[in-house]
Amino acid sequence: MTAQKIEGTQPEPSEKILGEGLDKIIAEYEGKPGALILVLHKAQNLIGYLPREVQRKIADGLSIPLSDVAGVVTFYSFFTMVPKGRHSIKVCLGTSCYVRGGQKLLEELKKKLDVPVGGTTEDRRFSLEVVRCIGACGLSPALTVGEDVFGRVKNIKLGEILGKYN
Ligand code: FES
Repeated sequence: MTAQKIEGTQPEPSEKILGEGLDKIIAEYEGKPGALILVLHKAQNLIGYLPREVQRKIADGLSIPLSDVAGVVTFYSFFTMVPKGRHSIKVCLGTSCYVRGGQKLLEELKKKLDVPVGGTTEDRRFSLEVVRCIGACGLSPALTVGEDVFGRVKNIKLGEILGKYN
């Protein structure tokens, strides 16, 4: 399987983004039904994640309590408060991958990258996540890095895979 480099595109939440960009989004949805979810989606697309300062700004802008915003962010798994890495690693823990060593791979990756599941490495190179079946059961244990799928991954192959991405 060949791997392609996928460059990350997530900007830092600069003053400009936190200012104009977020203000624009809030102004667009303010007072509309479902505004909070829509604003959170747009804000996450813009910034890459939803840190507390962004949540506060959204709460102020939509005139709702910060605790309501924080509640929604923590309830839905597609919202994240941690910045994502340039490359997202997803280890499959579906049944087939699990019984063929997926859990071991995950433990090895957590050690190698020094992050928990849901975490991002300090250099923002990788984020680590878990998925349930990516449709490559014949190649289990499998994982993905960005759009690339890697099958029959053994611990020994992990270093090789990680080395393809910078
Ligand atoms: S269980 Fe891992 S690809 Fe299906």
